[in-house]
Amino acid sequence: MIVNNMIVLGNDDFGEKLAEKLGTKFSRIEQRVFPDGEVCPRIIDGINDNHAVVALRMKLPLDPNMYLIEILFTIKNLKSLGVKKIDVVMPYFVYARQDKAFRKGEPFSAKYVIELLKEAGTSRFFTVTSHADRNKEKISLSDSAYSIDGFVAVGNYLKENNLKNPLIIAPDDGAEKFAETIAIHIGCEYAVFEKHRDLDTGSVSMKSSVDMKGKNVIIVDDIISSGGTMLKAIDLCKNNGAKSVMAAVVHVVSEKGIRNIKSLVAMDTIDSDVSKISVVELMADRIKSLI
Ligand code: R5P
Repeated sequence: MIVNNMIVLGNDDFGEKLAEKLGTKFSRIEQRVFPDGEVCPRIIDGINDNHAVVALRMKLPLDPNMYLIEILFTIKNLKSLGVKKIDVVMPYFVYARQDKAFRKGEPFSAKYVIELLKEAGTSRFFTVTSHADRNKEKISLSDSAYSIDGFVAVGNYLKENNLKNPLIIAPDDGAEKFAETIAIHIGCEYAVFEKHRDLDTGSVSMKSSVDMKGKNVIIVDDIISSGGTMLKAIDLCKNNGAKSVMAAVVHVVSEKGIRNIKSLVAMDTIDSDVSKISVVELMADRIKSLI
């Protein structure tokens, strides 16, 4: 069934699959980048629809600034063309990690992004496992911003892979809820490592006395950025006797960060070689539930 007067506008197969699950049309946004780096995203189709879902996705290596401008220009363009309802699907919420001004004079970036999107004409905002308000389904920065729990899909993926003798590890207490969700889902135990990050150098230290002999360990986290957290956690698991170690995360945001991680699976919130778990069905279900 095709939903009338609704269209998904995207830049790759993520948007295409989302349109398929929503039972609506898809159109690719033409993306031009001029020699000076300025962008000119052009809407080819969708001008006559009442409801547009803008579902652009980034790929590694990321360019969050260009991505944000492309989205903002697309929303403003749709608005000026008379489209009434504009939803934004931002699978990876850029700038969400700056979810407060950590030091005086710094921007509250996550809030500013939400405000910019709203001012441009966004009706509703959808993302996946956001660092701002993590573990929550609603993002408190706006009454029309929703976050999908990517760990439901990560849990399904791990369950399908039927691991023997699994143990789930959270590399820090911020990831405990993720580990708990997965452990309940596949019916096994989980443990939480103690992490310390030096705020000046960014270097990470970690400790745990959990005995992992014979265990197939899965370390879960929302994000791999520099890779420091995950690499430290992998070493610690090996030192504590783990039989095998794999990492399962939602977002991978840098190529350098994942280069030395041998066994890794991520979600398709960002296009990369390890993005094997799809959030599209969960995303479509959430959008449909609010139509
Ligand atoms: C921390 O709060 C996050 O959940 C991740 O553990 C962290 O952002 C990963 O960063 P990195 O890969 O740079 O250690």
